[in-house]
Amino acid sequence: MRDRSNLVVVANETALALELARFVSGRAVETIARRGRFDIALAGGSTPKAAYTLLAQAPFANAVSWERVRFFFGDERCVPPDDDQSNYKMAKNAMLDALRIAPAAVHRMHGEDPPQAAARAYAQMLRHELPLGADGVPAFDLVMLGMGPDGHTASLFPGSDPFDGDASLVKAPYVEKFATHRITLTPCVIHAADEVVVATAGGAKTEALAAVLDGPLDARTYPIQILRSRARPTKWLLDRAAAALLATS
Ligand code: 6PG
Repeated sequence: MRDRSNLVVVANETALALELARFVSGRAVETIARRGRFDIALAGGSTPKAAYTLLAQAPFANAVSWERVRFFFGDERCVPPDDDQSNYKMAKNAMLDALRIAPAAVHRMHGEDPPQAAARAYAQMLRHELPLGADGVPAFDLVMLGMGPDGHTASLFPGSDPFDGDASLVKAPYVEKFATHRITLTPCVIHAADEVVVATAGGAKTEALAAVLDGPLDARTYPIQILRSRARPTKWLLDRAAAALLATS
């Protein structure tokens, strides 16, 4: 990736969470001023969790008109909403409850339902709730993503082609590694989003990140490389450890 203008490197994971909270609240304020509301797909993972906690506190809690924000999810584990593995539960505990977000403004993936049915229902809901962008695909204002040390993002894991010709908006792939299904947005929806931000930190991500951004294209091995073919740029928020092997020019 030669263009580094959308890449921000900060000292450590604590600074990254702050940078992510600033980015999300900034996009929310700007988008609400422009179109009256803000539709965001949340990510699971540790950095987002720390950012959600910050967003629920001053100054962010007071800077955004939270009643104009609608919350969706980029992926979910196939568990009930009160399970400790649930991304919904994490976001609820870290941010949604503290900000007193109305339940009607939170669109969770139903991890407790049969996976394929839950994916179809979520796709249908997205078509109904979101404005349609390029090619008639529902368009988020912002999709938040993380990256695993294996190059996965959302619940698009290595081993199958994320561009498999299937035009679904939401899928429920079986993830060998965890011997379970997950529910995830597909590249089609991620590409249609107005903005995408990836936040990732730590030495466990260093090698994958260099391969993802600077290595040859191979999205079957590094699913997060789907972002390299997004028409609009992606914002990459990294800490120094994760960015350590990136080419400097
Ligand atoms: C999840 C995710 C997943 C996550 C990455 C990175 O539900 O776990 O949405 O794709 O973003 O695994 O997670 P960390 O930021 O915790 O490393």
